Amino acid sequence: MKLAIGNDHVAIEMKNEIKAYLESKGIEVIDVGTNSPERFNYPISGYKVAKLVAGGEVDGGVLICGTGVGISLSANKVHGIRACVCSEPYTARLSKQHNNTNIIAFGTRVIGVETAKMIVDEWLAAEYEGGRHQTRIDMLAEIETTQHLKAAE
Ligand code: RB5
Repeated sequence: MKLAIGNDHVAIEMKNEIKAYLESKGIEVIDVGTNSPERFNYPISGYKVAKLVAGGEVDGGVLICGTGVGISLSANKVHGIRACVCSEPYTARLSKQHNNTNIIAFGTRVIGVETAKMIVDEWLAAEYEGGRHQTRIDMLAEIETTQHLKAAE
């Protein structure tokens, strides 16, 4: 398995811990940065990870900023991305099972590193259930590509 990871300047320490944790499980990790403590605009790393995921170059992505909000919003602007910000493992698991998330995000100012590891573990272990959920995923894609939703007419 190969994942991409990205962060802003406030989340370097947590990024390094999560990256090492993933690598200790035998997962290959592409780190798009930032690795500098200089102020850094989170859309850059959100975009980079999203492009790697949307392009099929990695199996999924992990994004970390202060809250996880800005960086996940950035990733969700890329077509085909379903990024979810989580503060606990239950949402992480369900986000994969029901929403087929391809990026998980969290905030270093919100949760500790042990909770972040649990979130990543649940997300990686979960499998998309398809079935009725695919109808909704298809609707998300319809909104994304056409800015319209036939079912809402
Ligand atoms: C940086 O101060 C902070 O705004 C950023 O890390 C993140 O929380 C944005 O959503």
